[in-house]
Amino acid sequence: MSSPIARNVLIVGASRGLGLEFVRQYRADGARVTGTARGDDGLAAIAALGAKPLKLDVADAASAAGLAWQVDGEAFDTVFYVAGVYGPRTSGLEPPSVDDFDAVMHANVLGAMRVLPSVMDALAPPVAGRPGARIGVLSSRMGSIGMRASTLGWTYRASKAAVNSVLKDASIALAGRAICVAFHPGWVRTDMGGAGADIAAPDSVASMRRVLAGVDAARSGSFLNYDGAELAW
Ligand SMILES: NC(=O)c1ccc[n+]([C@@H]2O[C@H](COP(=O)([O-])OP(=O)(O)OC[C@H]3O[C@@H](n4cnc5c(N)ncnc54)[C@H](OP(=O)(O)O)[C@@H]3O)[C@@H](O)[C@H]2O)c1
Repeated sequence: MSSPIARNVLIVGASRGLGLEFVRQYRADGARVTGTARGDDGLAAIAALGAKPLKLDVADAASAAGLAWQVDGEAFDTVFYVAGVYGPRTSGLEPPSVDDFDAVMHANVLGAMRVLPSVMDALAPPVAGRPGARIGVLSSRMGSIGMRASTLGWTYRASKAAVNSVLKDASIALAGRAICVAFHPGWVRTDMGGAGADIAAPDSVASMRRVLAGVDAARSGSFLNYDGAELAW
């Protein structure tokens, strides 16, 4: 069976980097795209690609509380949760400040725990008994406990381990309705990844789009590399 073509897409955290690249590619394919950003520049960048901009700060309770009604009536077949921050560039076991801890955990974990329930009623319905929607959450292999070989950025690592747990719960709660995947996007040249990273954003995004479209329901709840290879949690 051929992979479904995304027709109605939501990208959460689309102001720049991987999120904006998702918007660009889905628009280029002719999909209707809604992209969220918390600042005016990001909203303008999303609109310039012909997508619908929605103002959303996933770390702000009041802002996040408005998402469900803003997407009321939509039927998204594809959702990517991309918003994320790296936080303190620690190398060992330096305790994060409360503010740093909160900034990372709120954007990377609490945000996902707000956004996923808010879009549940705005997912495309099942088609012929198969899930009608696909949800990708941008995690990181830095969150993997099974592959852990470094302590660099332990706050970020903890947040991505936690959002993997969130993704798994979403896959269980949405079984039959949405196929849910946690992705490592690769080490990508963005503001977060830096200029010396391995791969370009268009290549990472093209690959994740292809993989998400091709995952079958039996693999919902997986942690996948951007090229589709399974990763240890
Ligand atoms: N690049 C890599 O090598 C790499 C590797 C592994 C995983 N990842 C993950 O991939 C995702 C995207 O990374 P990226 O490289 O594109 O990073 P980026 O260039 O730094 O972009 C981060 C995005 O997240 C948004 N964001 C941050 N906090 C937010 C909040 N509270 N509410 C709404 N949006 C918020 C930013 O919006 P603003 O413009 O408003 O700040 C921006 O759109 C992240 O989850 C990251 O952890 C990236």
